[in-house]
Amino acid sequence: MTDNLHIPVMLGESISNLEVLILRHLDLKTKLPSKVWQVFDGTLGGGGYTIAIIALFQKYKQNYQLYACDLDSVAIDRVGLRLQEELGFCKKTKDIPGFITKHQLDFGLKSKLVQEVCLIQGNFADVVNQFLDGSMDYLILDLGFSSNQLELDHRGLSYLQESDSLDLRYDQDSRVEPLWLKLKHIKGHQELTKVLFNSSGEKLSPRIAGRIIEARGRGTTLETVADLVAVVTDSIPKIMYKNRYGILSRVWQALRIWVNGEFEALEAFLPISQDKLVVGGRLAIVSFHSLEDKIVAKNFRLVSQGQEIDDYGNKEFDFKHLTARALLPLEAEIEANARSRSATMRTLERV
Ligand SMILES: C[S@@+](CC[C@H](N)C(=O)[O-])C[C@H]1O[C@@H](n2cnc3c(N)ncnc32)[C@H](O)[C@@H]1O
Repeated sequence: MTDNLHIPVMLGESISNLEVLILRHLDLKTKLPSKVWQVFDGTLGGGGYTIAIIALFQKYKQNYQLYACDLDSVAIDRVGLRLQEELGFCKKTKDIPGFITKHQLDFGLKSKLVQEVCLIQGNFADVVNQFLDGSMDYLILDLGFSSNQLELDHRGLSYLQESDSLDLRYDQDSRVEPLWLKLKHIKGHQELTKVLFNSSGEKLSPRIAGRIIEARGRGTTLETVADLVAVVTDSIPKIMYKNRYGILSRVWQALRIWVNGEFEALEAFLPISQDKLVVGGRLAIVSFHSLEDKIVAKNFRLVSQGQEIDDYGNKEFDFKHLTARALLPLEAEIEANARSRSATMRTLERV
């Protein structure tokens, strides 16, 4: 069995967005040539969403092409194996120009249905931009990192795993610098304070940034999680020491977001993905950080305001924001999976 520790968050809500579209389509009872659904899972992770999407299409006996990507090639290989084990067929048939296609699966070979799954290594903004056309029915992102990356992969994503290298990258194959190298190259105190404060709001950011820059100046190695934990802990005043775990969490989150360019990727993805939606298609984003949710909410509000005016002076709406109030996980999910407690989900529909 392939290792998988990741429990998908807001899975039911993410899948029911797509199920609504399938039911709407079936309700029309058209005799049109059968539709091939086009779906994109931009954050494959442990494969939870992708596997549930496949199951949904199987339940309704629909044709589909599902593209799923992740920056992390280990995640892609894990899910490729999971799909082979759980669904029994996996064949690499073709490459996607410009990307590493890790697995191309065709489950339709034994039936008359088109059932294709393509697992691609890449940044969701790049994959959508360069590879998908304007016929997408559903695009979903479930942001951040997976429990597999946190607990199995030893990339320094947790401040508790002290012997890990200070890496923090999702994409270990890229030219993106690991955290220890970024800390070596950062120009100075002000820049590092900004990195820490802007995404965490941590009040001790200037002090922590100062201690990191000082440590670097003294030639202290900052290559393992333990090295950085020591410097951060040392910068916490005694009176605040009891809050040290909260402070370490916020520092780690800010550094992870910085290393992986998470806000930039999301900002780039939003307009491109909206361009790829068919009328009636949906885009859904699950965020775990209030600033991410803010980026999504602001963008969804803006694009659903009606930019154009028709011949009669009425506003023409391209999109409808279906979650003006973000959807939150149910109490039962939060009880069963503590990771879900900070999740918010927003959905946009092309009209
Ligand atoms: C929370 S997990 C997704 C879990 C998945 N929905 C599931 O049910 O198993 C987030 C994943 O997104 C990936 N990721 C983060 N930023 C990315 C980006 N810009 N492009 C592609 N993948 C990204 C991470 O490597 C991680 O595997």
